[in-house]
Amino acid sequence: MKKRKLGKNGPEVSSISIGTSWGIHSLEKWHQSKKRLTQTLHQSIDTGINFINTADFYGSGISELAIGEVIKYRRKDVFISVKTGALVSPGGHFLDLDGRPKAIKNFCAYSLKRLGVNEIDLYQPCRIDSEVPIEETVGAIKDLIDEGKVRYLGLSEANAEQLQRANNVHQVSALEIEYSLATRFIEKEILPIARQLGTAIVPYSVFYYGLLTGEMHLPMSKNDYKNMFPRFQGENLAYNLQKVEWLKEFAANKGASASQIALAWLLNQGNDIIPIVGMTKPERIKENLEALEITFTKEEIERLNEVFKLGSLKGERYPPAFLIWAAS
Ligand SMILES: NC(=O)c1ccc[n+]([C@@H]2O[C@H](COP(=O)([O-])OP(=O)(O)OC[C@H]3O[C@@H](n4cnc5c(N)ncnc54)[C@H](OP(=O)(O)O)[C@@H]3O)[C@@H](O)[C@H]2O)c1
Repeated sequence: MKKRKLGKNGPEVSSISIGTSWGIHSLEKWHQSKKRLTQTLHQSIDTGINFINTADFYGSGISELAIGEVIKYRRKDVFISVKTGALVSPGGHFLDLDGRPKAIKNFCAYSLKRLGVNEIDLYQPCRIDSEVPIEETVGAIKDLIDEGKVRYLGLSEANAEQLQRANNVHQVSALEIEYSLATRFIEKEILPIARQLGTAIVPYSVFYYGLLTGEMHLPMSKNDYKNMFPRFQGENLAYNLQKVEWLKEFAANKGASASQIALAWLLNQGNDIIPIVGMTKPERIKENLEALEITFTKEEIERLNEVFKLGSLKGERYPPAFLIWAAS
């Protein structure tokens, strides 16, 4: 497995990370999917994908419990990243943020138990709580590092100023943030600051909720959560799908799939980029790992950058209610 360094103070981790958000909020659904999901995790670790991404609110703890079970006899094989600080309803609906130091320490205590570990490798607020100075939130994580409960500090969806302020308190090893051919806003301000500070970028939604894989089933069902995203609506979707058709053709000419090109393009942005891939089926692993071997000519990169330049997709990346929590 090719490895990359997680920021200037971090360890080497696999060049891609596996995501475990899974969208599961009922125990019935969990029992139906458990075998497939834990098998995907085991097989990913077997191939050397050791960087596991979760959050304490994914399935209100189901994701952490599942990871805990999988790593019971292989703790040394994995590096676990946990997001915290979100309050969600039993149905999985986002209610609010809580970045107060005592809340962060409380959340951490439960995550350690669910994961069955003595320390969390990378710990990060999932969003920046505007009610709490960021220095206080990350100060709590610094305390947890000093106590040996956490190894490295991360952030998620922080802007350039927040990253700088957090880094003044403690070295930020990684910034988890949306970044893909579809969403490139971080290149303006955030990426340069991260590079200056020695913070690795851990992109999520690298296929933009499956859009860039070119394998979406259309029309989407009325119950599909993606309907709320402006990029999946009406004329925006029709326009964006044309871009995906272009990507599929570009990929076919290189003997690759659209998802492999989307992933390879990100990996090509620098050794400090360690993308998270959401995989819920073991058969995805091989295809996604093959992206690590794809190289581009200068002309190919220029074409990809031109077709998918900043703002090239129609519609905001999040619905307005989510956008207020996200970085820009
Ligand atoms: N920090 C944050 O705010 C934040 C936000 C969102 C997500 N995340 C993290 O990032 C992870 C991934 O995010 P995501 O699920 O939104 O986006 P994603 O990785 O862009 O997309 C995941 C989707 O792509 C499909 N897929 C994966 N490999 C594929 C392949 N080779 N060919 C075709 N389809 C493929 C998956 O299908 P299958 O399910 O069928 O395998 C899944 O439907 C999450 O699990 C979570 O850990 C973090």
